[in-house]
Amino acid sequence: MSDETKRTVRTQFGRQASWYAASAVHRQSASLAVLLRLSAPFPEARALDIATGTGFTGLALAPQCRQVVGVDLTAGMVREARRLAANRGVPNFLLCLGDAEALPFPDRIFDIVTCRHAAHHFPDFPRALAEMGRVAKIGGRVVLDDTCAPENPALARLMNEWELRRDPSHVANRPPSELVALLDQSGLRVDATVMTEVPLEFTDWVRRSGVAAAEAAALRASLLGAATDARSAFRIRLEGDTLRFAWDEIVLLGVKR
Ligand SMILES: C[S@@+](CC[C@H](N)C(=O)[O-])C[C@H]1O[C@@H](n2cnc3c(N)ncnc32)[C@H](O)[C@@H]1O
Repeated sequence: MSDETKRTVRTQFGRQASWYAASAVHRQSASLAVLLRLSAPFPEARALDIATGTGFTGLALAPQCRQVVGVDLTAGMVREARRLAANRGVPNFLLCLGDAEALPFPDRIFDIVTCRHAAHHFPDFPRALAEMGRVAKIGGRVVLDDTCAPENPALARLMNEWELRRDPSHVANRPPSELVALLDQSGLRVDATVMTEVPLEFTDWVRRSGVAAAEAAALRASLLGAATDARSAFRIRLEGDTLRFAWDEIVLLGVKR
């Protein structure tokens, strides 16, 4: 299952790399400013951005750090991030291929470790967290930013079901309480949690992951037909013909004990 998910990640993101770099949803989320603040970069810092994609987080951190390393499973994403870093003249943002669950770095070498909008793709999330903790220095900051599920298990199941129908590389969104507990169990003291949201427009959401027309229509009907508690939790609404909704997003700061 795990290898299959990772193959799907490479297929999904391999074909998205060039337009992903231009995607406003991914570039501009309110959470990026929060992530940067909680990372507390400083001129001598060495930072690691896990599942860097086309490098939004790494490029934002680089001007305030000595060096930022971006690692990602998908070759196309790494190529695109490298091209952007060169075009923008950011020589201290280095890129490499690698798996969040088996990071190609020694223990305790990073002051800052970030991971944005990716943990829901990891088949073995506790293992990825253990890897984040392993490569962070004692006292180092691990900042995890991802969409999260509601605390209500039925709503969490529904969100994950919708996401999986849209994107076969989706594994799981978790509620905030579970994320906090998992960080703590990984030796990361949770010093801050900040909630934001990702506003979504249905047509764009399904187009990005290449959902077939019939499945997109069925998914749209499922969102529109959801019960009142789901419509309220996910802010599902029609504006004319435009279907809008939102996922909650969480940014957690874990300090390596
Ligand atoms: C939605 S993108 C997020 C990219 C970037 N962090 C951002 O904020 O724009 C998810 C990224 O996670 C990467 N990814 C998924 N599973 C991974 C894994 N096990 N190890 C490393 N990267 C992974 C994908 O290749 C993709 O580039």
